[in-house]
Amino acid sequence: MKGLLGIEDLTREEVQAILDRARHFQVGPGERFRKFDLLKGRMVVNLFFENSTRTRTSFELAAKGLGADAVSITAQASSVAKGESLVDTLNTLGAMRPDAIIMRHSASGAPHFLQRHLGIPIINAGDGTHEHPTQALLDARTILDRGKQLEGLRVAIIGDIAHSRVARSNVYLLSKYGADIVLCGPASLLPNELRQLAAGVTLTTDMDEAIRDADVIMMLRVQLERQHEAAFPAGEYFPFYGLRLEHLKLAKPDAIVMHPGPINRGREISSEVADSQRSAILNQVENGISVRMAVLERVLGGDKNAGAAH
Ligand code: CP
Repeated sequence: MKGLLGIEDLTREEVQAILDRARHFQVGPGERFRKFDLLKGRMVVNLFFENSTRTRTSFELAAKGLGADAVSITAQASSVAKGESLVDTLNTLGAMRPDAIIMRHSASGAPHFLQRHLGIPIINAGDGTHEHPTQALLDARTILDRGKQLEGLRVAIIGDIAHSRVARSNVYLLSKYGADIVLCGPASLLPNELRQLAAGVTLTTDMDEAIRDADVIMMLRVQLERQHEAAFPAGEYFPFYGLRLEHLKLAKPDAIVMHPGPINRGREISSEVADSQRSAILNQVENGISVRMAVLERVLGGDKNAGAAH
């Protein structure tokens, strides 16, 4: 029984194996994703207690693409909305004998609790402000696809660092490769202790300094749903921390722009940048499927001999 609760727990070799295997599931421009029988007869449940477009859909497509049965449940459309507790919800789903549960929850550590409680593999699809492991994996796959090496990469991660599970998972992953990671945001969203997350991490509140000579500029959404009080004056965010075309001149000439989505145009990124050639945002979405196929196969131990595509 081995789920995927976070990147912190993985070795570099394990990360690399997932990134390499994801290539097998990638398709060319305009092609449809291929179908496999690798997980035929398996059943996965997508259990989402927070909203999602990319993660939930791509996990479902990935499971079905590998031949598994996939059921998606959102808290709003489940008996949680009628007052059922988390434990009773988990026991109910466990009784249906899924082979794995993919879980998103607003509480950090909720998937860890679920794995201990149910004893079946859990894949963390984002827990509070803690980790979003498959996001970091698909981000790394996207960076590699753009011809870059993770070793020695200079990455600027900009925005609401304090509340970002995406930032944490990316720091854990990129630091395994010795990347140079600059975390940048308003002081109120940039806790000092993040310096200790991993070697190679520096902090700055100066966006120009963060972007200078960057290979990758990773923008983050301002997570208003996790802020209990305003972290900066309304209307002041974009002028100081919104990515605009003029910023790109500071980065390496072939630097790429990433964002886990959903993007808020005019808050953390301008449309000119989001829709530019430099933007890899839709490549990230596309890689969500191939990377999650690789993760599901790893967690469920797919039979590689049954891998005939059709
Ligand atoms: N990046 C990400 O987790 O997007 P969703 O919230 O749409 O799944």
